[in-house]
Amino acid sequence: MTSDDEGRPGRLPGAAGPGRAPFAHRAPAPDATAHRAPAPAPDAGSASAPDAVTCRGLRYAFGETRAVDGVDLSVRPGEVFGLLGPNGAGKTTAIRCITTLLSVPAGMVRVFGHDAAKERMAVRRLLGYVPQQLSADAGLTGRENVALFARVFDVPRRERAARVAQALAAVGLTDAAGRLANTYSGGMVRRLELAQALVSAPRLLMLDEPTIGLDPIARTSVWEHINAVRAATGMTVLVTTHYMDEADQYCDRVALMHHGRIRALGTPDELRAALSARRRAARTAAPPTAPGTPTPTPAPAASPASAVSPSAAPSRSSDAAPTLEDVFRDVAGSGLDEQSGDFRDVRSTRRTAHRVG
Ligand SMILES: Nc1ncnc2c1ncn2[C@@H]1O[C@H](COP(=O)(O)OP(=O)(O)O)[C@@H](O)[C@H]1O
Ligand SMILES: [Mg+2]
Repeated sequence: MTSDDEGRPGRLPGAAGPGRAPFAHRAPAPDATAHRAPAPAPDAGSASAPDAVTCRGLRYAFGETRAVDGVDLSVRPGEVFGLLGPNGAGKTTAIRCITTLLSVPAGMVRVFGHDAAKERMAVRRLLGYVPQQLSADAGLTGRENVALFARVFDVPRRERAARVAQALAAVGLTDAAGRLANTYSGGMVRRLELAQALVSAPRLLMLDEPTIGLDPIARTSVWEHINAVRAATGMTVLVTTHYMDEADQYCDRVALMHHGRIRALGTPDELRAALSARRRAARTAAPPTAPGTPTPTPAPAASPASAVSPSAAPSRSSDAAPTLEDVFRDVAGSGLDEQSGDFRDVRSTRRTAHRVG
């Protein structure tokens, strides 16, 4: 059993001392900004510490569909990085490439310096993955589900019981651990899946739409547990979501993805500030409209301001502080409007709560 030959800094603090809670469980922070993790050092991805994830020209096609079409990004160790975009943007495909579930040529994906094509097992040992689809077994108890993952991920036998208990405690499911998963609420199922992914003490936790379909209270709870574990272990989190408000609140940096490509990347504050600056510049540069000139449909992303169509934000003045969704509309251009229903429709693609319940 060689479950851990990578010297993981994300190793559970309690693993060496049975009975000690590994995940320091913190009381929810009182304000929104406190939820966001402390920003990692800007140069955390230096040569001495490889980036948690590096994608260089990442491409993946399903037949004629170019699901991921040349993605470059780096996720720094210890940060919460959000991959944002509407349904069909390519988020899940990108995530699957990084997990090695989809094969890509050498040089496109590295995880903590390991090439996903050449060192597949080394990559897999470093990550925990909560897929968009249901991964908990409704016919098993919470504890049995997590124990199953402990075996699959080769957690040493002597550590298993303690690690399973620790993972369950970390997501607040100790009391419910003996119940069948089909008695859990949607939020509890998602936290159970989180425990399944955490039991191997991953250095990189990958979450694909972790809160889709959950009510706001359950969403907050899932995030608080993610952040508590992260604060205790220093693990890196790569998360996909189409909830812009959530990404704004919880992610250190985000990449806005549309039609397989990254359209913008930065901290939520940076992206909002950049849009404000573009709006100011557009207002300054905009020529006065000639009298009698018919007002055309806004040209597709002809200028940054025109991409924010009146129908997209009818009540917002361009002087208002932009939201992350405003940024997305700006960088995605007109293509987003025809897909905007997907922001809502995507909820139906995940039915965890209903399928398990
Ligand atoms: N297994 C598949 N076979 C064929 N096409 C797929 C498959 N998975 C995804 N796609 C297509 O790839 C594109 C990106 O999908 P996906 O990565 O699931 O996006 P997202 O996770 O952002 O919703 C979409 O056009 C989708 O229809
Ligand atoms: Mg997806």
